[in-house]
This record gives sequence, C-alpha cells and structure tokens, in this order.
Amino acid sequence: MMDIELRSITEGDAEEVYRLIGLCNKPHGFLGPPPSPPIIRTYRGTVAVVRGRILGCALWSLLKTKPVARLQYICVAPMLRRQGIAARLMDAFEGDADGRTCITTVVETNVGMRAMVGRRGYTFAPPSGSTKRRVVVATRAPS
Ligand SMILES: CC(C)(COP(=O)(O)OP(=O)(O)OC[C@H]1O[C@@H](n2cnc3c(N)ncnc32)[C@H](O)[C@@H]1OP(=O)(O)O)[C@@H](O)C(=O)NCCC(=O)NCCS
Repeated sequence: MMDIELRSITEGDAEEVYRLIGLCNKPHGFLGPPPSPPIIRTYRGTVAVVRGRILGCALWSLLKTKPVARLQYICVAPMLRRQGIAARLMDAFEGDADGRTCITTVVETNVGMRAMVGRRGYTFAPPSGSTKRRVVVATRAPS
C-alpha cells in the first residue's frame, strides 16, 4: 500500500496544485480551467502527498456572510483514483466546515463525483446552466 500523507495546503504548494488541477481537468473538463496560483492561495485546503509529490487536493472557502462552506475544487491524479483519497479529502473539508452547510457544484455528467457526494448525504438541486455544461449544486445541511 502506498504511503499517502494528507496535510493542510501551504502557500508554497500553489504552483503544484495549479498543475494538478490542469492535469485532472482532462479529458472531461469537470473542474474547468485551474485557478491561478494567487487565487489558490486564498483558499483553505488539504493536499494528498505521495513520495513528496502533490497528487490530490481539495480547496474550499468558508463564506463570511452565512454559515456555508463551499468546496471549490477536488481532484486526484488519474493513477491514484478509487483508493479512497478523495473520500479522505472530503473528510478534511467537512471537518473544517465544522457544522456549516457544505456546498459544491458538480457537472451533471460527472458520475464519479456525484456518486461520492451522494453517498455522503449530499442532495442535488435540479441541473442548471448551458446545455453544454449543465451543473448541479450538491448540498449537505449540518446534521
Ligand atoms: C472525482 C474524484 C475526485 C474522485 O477521486 P477518488 O480518489 O478516485 O475517489 P475515492 O476513491 O475516494 O472514491 C470514493 C467513492 O466515490 C465514488 N466514486 C469515485 N469515483 C467514481 C467513479 N469513477 N464512478 C463511480 N463512483 C465513483 C465511489 O462511491 C467511491 O467509493 P468506492 O471506491 O468504495 O466505490 C476523481 O475521480 C477526480 O479527480 N476526477 C476528476 C476531477 C473531478 O471531477 N473533480 C470533481 C469536480 S466537482
């Protein structure tokens, strides 16, 4: 079993996280274009590190005006998928949400992400957006 360390994101991680999001956005475009490193530095987040390389990440914000935590990006490098890494990144996000409502936006055709958050108790709003890129908002109210 590979040694995978999860830790909080630091300022110095932004460039590597930028490249990882760009890699994971292919081939479906589920993440959209990666946010620039200065934007990445404004998010809270957790990275998954394997042999010194960042191969998974979750980035989120805690809203200032209401008790909502918004997951902005989550991804795992293709060769490490289906090993529970994203589930651990979600644990970090939801733990930091600390009783806030958790929200994220998922492209309608993103079966894997929808399955993961559905299993975690998120509910989905009806799809909206352009016919090319319809998205659903997934929400989990505090228990
Ligand atoms: C979505 C993503 C983050 C999942 O990462 P992961 O580390 O493979 O996910 P996990 O192994 O933790 O999976 C947890 C559960 O999610 C569900 N799941 C994950 N990927 C799935 C897939 N391709 N198909 C169906 N269910 C899937 C399963 O229920 C899985 O549990 P199981 O393996 O015991 O069946 C990863 O596929 C990815 O980076 N995709 C591209 C970027 C992306 O779409 N990000 C989300 C944007 S909103």
